[in-house]
Amino acid sequence: MTGLSGAGKTSIARLTIPLLEEQGLAAEVIDGDEYRKTLCKDLGFSKADRHENIRRLGKLAYDLTRDGKIAIIAAINPYEEIRNELKEKYAAKTVWINCSKEELIVRDTKGLYKRALLPDGHPDKVKNLTGISDVYEEPPSPDLTILTHTESADDSARQLFQFIIHSLKQ
Ligand code: ADX
Repeated sequence: MTGLSGAGKTSIARLTIPLLEEQGLAAEVIDGDEYRKTLCKDLGFSKADRHENIRRLGKLAYDLTRDGKIAIIAAINPYEEIRNELKEKYAAKTVWINCSKEELIVRDTKGLYKRALLPDGHPDKVKNLTGISDVYEEPPSPDLTILTHTESADDSARQLFQFIIHSLKQ
């Protein structure tokens, strides 16, 4: 997956797992937020660190697929270069979880957008927030785009499920 913080990546990925399991398919979510507390806790949000983060998550995902599982990486994954790297190395698909910035700022589930928009020098200001004060490269040719400001999480999960089933048949 790729998409801004709060766009719905983790929720959609988690809702998709039981749909796959009903079909007898084993699947796991590799969640950026979670791995940033463990395997990737040494990494920050510079371009180099985000690259390294996605590389590590990509390798984890690949290992799962070798065990016969479907792996969904729910991370911001903001750079086209590294998305292409995973595509070339592991035949990964890119799914863009796309939500308008206006909607993300209103939702602000983690309070990060409010903190990123604070005046410079404010002690609570979050720097380098993707989409606000750091780069987000929109994927020019994603394999699937899901618009989360216009559809429910359940509908989005069904769309991802159908896409995965279709990809497995190819
Ligand atoms: S990625 O860019 O390297 O793919 P990842 O998905 O692992 O990012 O982590 C993003 C999560 O870290 C966000 O959902 C948010 O909770 C948290 N976070 C904290 N600071 C930032 C920041 N400056 N930019 C983006 N996410 C941040």
